Amino acid sequence: MSTSFRRRHFAGGAVGTLALGLTGLACAPQAIHTNESRRELSMSDQRIDPYTWPHKSLRRLLFDVTTWAGSVDVESASAMRELRDGVFSALDVVDAHAKHEETFLHPVLATKLPDFVRELDDEHRASRREVEELRQLLGAAVESESTSQRKEASLTFYRAVGRFVGDYLEHLDVEEAALPTYWARFSAEELAEVMRRFHVSRGPADAILDLERMLPALTPFERNELLLRMHASAPPDALRAACAAARRVLDAGAFARLEACIGVP
Ligand SMILES: [Fe+2]
Repeated sequence: MSTSFRRRHFAGGAVGTLALGLTGLACAPQAIHTNESRRELSMSDQRIDPYTWPHKSLRRLLFDVTTWAGSVDVESASAMRELRDGVFSALDVVDAHAKHEETFLHPVLATKLPDFVRELDDEHRASRREVEELRQLLGAAVESESTSQRKEASLTFYRAVGRFVGDYLEHLDVEEAALPTYWARFSAEELAEVMRRFHVSRGPADAILDLERMLPALTPFERNELLLRMHASAPPDALRAACAAARRVLDAGAFARLEACIGVP
């Protein structure tokens, strides 16, 4: 896996995510001083959103994978192996995300929206099949015996991953479009319980890896909101670990902005 790709997406080297999705907190310096932020705060208050932030993280990951696949040096066996490792790790994240939704969110949704959950499960099954095909296509490209075969197989993979990302973006959009229905049909407590069970299932190390992948994909306002939520609810050690993660994955300017908001311990 290339160093830059690993740094961007796998700073600690593992997979996972559903979400850290309670909105409603905002940074004092940046949020409370503007009417727009006040309005955003009140609109988002009490809404549990299991999708938007982890989906941002997934989009960023898949866009990077696609760009990498289109620009890799196909004449270099080592560059192709790096691409394979990076893509396989990214696909592990995609699979894990679906598994988290199916384990924690879908059973609750199915109590009131069974047909919709069946649709989502079907899409997850199709996505898993496509992911497996992508692994096989890329594996074949890496194992090609001649450079000309590798060029052709790599282009075939690149086009396939582009099609997959196109389909996957639609899936993410279907899920996010359902959020108002969730908020209308389920109480904040029911959705909060989904998130609580998910977070309990993630050990501290996995939670930090989720955070490392998510923070760079969020807006500064969202990063503040996420860390302020931790500030309000997590033990000091967890907050310190989260801030250290933010320092690792954000550029200096973005981290300074976060630090000014939350008062990094
Ligand atoms: Fe999904």
